[in-house]
Amino acid sequence: MAANNGAIKLVAGNSNPKLAEAIASYLATPLAQAVVRRFADMEVFVEIQENVRGTDVFVVQSTSYPANDHLMELLIIIDALRRSSARRITAVVPYFGYARQDRKPGPRTPISAKLVANLITRAGADRVMTLDLHAGQIQGFFDIPTDNLFASPVMVRDIKERYKLDNVMVVSPDVGGVVRARGLAKRINAPLAIIDKRRERAGESEVMNVIGEVTGRACILVDDIVDSGGTLVNAAEALLKQGATSVTAYITHGVLSGGAVARVTASKLKELVITDSIQPTEAVRVARNIRVLSIATLIGEAIGRTAAEESVSSLFD
Ligand code: R5P
Repeated sequence: MAANNGAIKLVAGNSNPKLAEAIASYLATPLAQAVVRRFADMEVFVEIQENVRGTDVFVVQSTSYPANDHLMELLIIIDALRRSSARRITAVVPYFGYARQDRKPGPRTPISAKLVANLITRAGADRVMTLDLHAGQIQGFFDIPTDNLFASPVMVRDIKERYKLDNVMVVSPDVGGVVRARGLAKRINAPLAIIDKRRERAGESEVMNVIGEVTGRACILVDDIVDSGGTLVNAAEALLKQGATSVTAYITHGVLSGGAVARVTASKLKELVITDSIQPTEAVRVARNIRVLSIATLIGEAIGRTAAEESVSSLFD
């Protein structure tokens, strides 16, 4: 009788079925038969409908909107797999929600990113795989191996296809994002500018100071998250005012809450390029200046390498 040890199984929650299917197709491994549904009172119910005993299971689930429902699905899927004797469970969380709550912003506030890391671990995950964490240090919130992948190879390929690199300036939209932007700038051999946002006095609007000479340059803003779109739209205005010829943004996670899509569409941004770490809504798909790059191959390759106990970091050399 053939043993299951080492066989890969992919299980998808409801957050991003398209990405899960694309990963499954890259790995030529069908998604495992599983039901992830709600009871009448909206409790999550999970049933894994095939044998997973002894298998290496990868659960693909972003904790994107609605974050709490998708997080609960992830935890309950992991619990179901653990109780079904899976050999190893990897939580593949392309967008790790709650990551922005990675420190106490004031007294008597939580560190929710740490709490979510504890929940995933205690549910029974053996490993975590995620993408462009808001802050690299969040890896340390997990006491299990955690691979933080980077979307930059996918973005760099796209930038190289579309831009004359000798005229490009990579821009970090705030001081906190400099390390991320510098990493991408190095990969395409482009200079780096930084936007320094300052509110001189409470109640006054923020002043955007551009550090770096952007006149005549095609500017590429790089960030991990676009949520309301405010940061990007304001940064684009500031760069164009300083003489940039165009402003494009490459952002890994298109959270795009509330009126963000309308704000981006009405803005002077030439294009906003995001990935499918969060499943794009219909509004995103039809927006005139938003384009989606898929990270399915990158994640599929990282899953394949993890299963084969091969290097994942060499994907980014
Ligand atoms: C902040 O630290 C993040 O890196 C993003 O810059 C931020 O989440 C973007 O938010 P919004 O689109 O709402 O300005």
